[in-house]
Amino acid sequence: MTYAVPSTVSRIPADCLPALLRAMPKAELHMHIEGSLEPELIFALAQRNGVQLPYADVEALRAAYAFTDLQSFLDIYYAGASVLLQEQDFYDMAMAYLQRAAADHVVRAEIFFDPQTHTERGVAMETVIHGLARACKDAQAQWGISAGLILSFLRHLSEEAAFDTLHAALPYREHFIGIGLDSSEVGNPPEKFARVFEQCKALGFHLVAHAGEEGPPAYVWSALNVLQVQRIDHGVQSEKDWDLMQRLADTRMPLTVCPLSNQKLCVFPDLRDHNLPRMLAAGLNVTVNSDDPAYFGGYVNENYLQVFAATGMGAEQAYQLARNSLEATFASPEQQALWVQQLDACFESMAA
Ligand code: ADE
Ligand code: ZN
Repeated sequence: MTYAVPSTVSRIPADCLPALLRAMPKAELHMHIEGSLEPELIFALAQRNGVQLPYADVEALRAAYAFTDLQSFLDIYYAGASVLLQEQDFYDMAMAYLQRAAADHVVRAEIFFDPQTHTERGVAMETVIHGLARACKDAQAQWGISAGLILSFLRHLSEEAAFDTLHAALPYREHFIGIGLDSSEVGNPPEKFARVFEQCKALGFHLVAHAGEEGPPAYVWSALNVLQVQRIDHGVQSEKDWDLMQRLADTRMPLTVCPLSNQKLCVFPDLRDHNLPRMLAAGLNVTVNSDDPAYFGGYVNENYLQVFAATGMGAEQAYQLARNSLEATFASPEQQALWVQQLDACFESMAA
């Protein structure tokens, strides 16, 4: 099932496109909260907690953000997260992100967090989850943004470690809505986590997984068929497999695509080469997201602005991407319909 694009899209003046991209209500479905830690906040938290960083200052840290692939990024990303120790640190990080997201007209954020990055350093699960959950609650009250948390297993660690993490998190299950799978993709296929995802499904969690970021289409197939996920995170390598493209289109499987991340991690040599417009034209249910905004040069609106400028997409694609994002959330259908009404009103207000 799909939707009709409203006729207002043809009445948006071309020079209004950037304003439209900024103003339209949207959901962000693929961002790692640890990837929202700006260098300034990393240094402030390091000082607050007495953590020694292997970088002299903010400039030296930022200068290290020259990535060649996913692993070269992850090494720095895990080092940055080492400053998070107290519940207040997790709260401050999430509030900073949610304030920026609300300013980008994100009405709903579904946020990944990596508990193993913290519990392996001796931080309690309760500290992580309570800090993040309190921020989600306060952000809703302060800025009207709706947020949900997705606990992600680190796929470079073992299945046993994922089970341990799940069991440690279950006392706090009211605070997260879903389960994800992230970190080093190649060599860590979805099958490795088949049993733990099966248990998460039985427990009633929503399921998503990173697949086809750097890894092959086979990993997307097994995320769908073995893990039985409800969304694919990234999925851009699916284009190499025509049957997979057909399956994704036929099932309207949401793909949470992250253009600036793909550019910075050299998945595509240039943003002009990004396959987002091609996947949209092929009928795939693609969305735009920031992944790790503090590391990749921009929050969600910057992703929209830059990928539209580079590929020449227009108002019709803007509508499709925003609507796809709202309807791919794990919020209720009634809530989604209210957000779609707001989207339609936004397009109406900008039409000539
Ligand atoms: N963790 C944070 N960002 C990630 C990405 N782009 N891919 C896999 N794991 C991640
Ligand atoms: Zn990601």
